[in-house]
Amino acid sequence: MRSSWRSCTGASIPHEKLVLLESFITERTQGLFGDRLRFELAAARAEDSEDLRGLGTYGFIRGASAFIIGAVHRDIDNLEDYGYLMERIVLYATQLSLATCWLGGSFYKDNFSARINIRPNEIVPAVVSMGVPAGNRNMVDRLIRNVAGSKKRLPWDRLFFEADARTPLQPEGAGKFAEVLEMVRLSPSASNRQPWRLVKDGTVVHFFLCRTKGYRKPMFSDLQRIDMGIAMAHFETVCQELNIAGAWKQATSSPRAVENWEYTVTWESH
Ligand SMILES: Cc1cc2nc3c(=O)[nH]c(=O)nc-3n(C[C@H](O)[C@H](O)[C@H](O)COP(=O)(O)O)c2cc1C
Repeated sequence: MRSSWRSCTGASIPHEKLVLLESFITERTQGLFGDRLRFELAAARAEDSEDLRGLGTYGFIRGASAFIIGAVHRDIDNLEDYGYLMERIVLYATQLSLATCWLGGSFYKDNFSARINIRPNEIVPAVVSMGVPAGNRNMVDRLIRNVAGSKKRLPWDRLFFEADARTPLQPEGAGKFAEVLEMVRLSPSASNRQPWRLVKDGTVVHFFLCRTKGYRKPMFSDLQRIDMGIAMAHFETVCQELNIAGAWKQATSSPRAVENWEYTVTWESH
């Protein structure tokens, strides 16, 4: 059900949904790599979204009535955790029928940083807009989706592999992970680059980052590491939904990979 929705009505989010969101956000701050992150819900106070307009999204988002803003410590630099925790908020908001959109480039960093009283050495790597979805996507939304090719995803044989990291894994060969991987495939990613590569070796699944050449921009955070955390959130959420028990582990020796892939983490089912 989730897709990036940049067209909102401007109506404020009903109070009971804000309460649910607020407690979801404050209760889940522990990342997978051990650190706590902080997230804040900046919701429009008045009956309209004017209150938030000053934060600025370069006109990418219309009528948002809330933003989720988070901060990471520069030295700890846990961007996968940032993606993981934020995407769980996104999925929860989707469940509450709210429109969401990740913003890694199209937001005024200074304004958002000020809004959460950024501390020394903290950065806001990306934010998520939220609102009551308009019935139809506006022109800007349609245009951005066209440019990013948002509807499309890479096929299975480009994303998922058998233990040798070369033989493409097909849904028929993925066993209990077939639906889990399909939901990873539907993850949102910056500019829809889908940099995740997964290798299934028996009951474990290794996650690798395959960077898009030349994509990293100095003024932005390392968005592809955030993408990786998002894919992890989808993977874990669907495992929980399907009662597939398991846990995240760090492999002791490097699992087999293709040359330019960067190892991130392993899911081990029990
Ligand atoms: C880390 C990250 C950063 C993103 N930054 C932006 C952005 O700055 N502006 C924007 O309009 N969309 C942004 N997006 C949304 C993507 O373009 C979108 O997720 C992708 O095209 C797939 O479309 P979907 O989310 O509708 O499935 C971002 C997504 C992610 C995950």
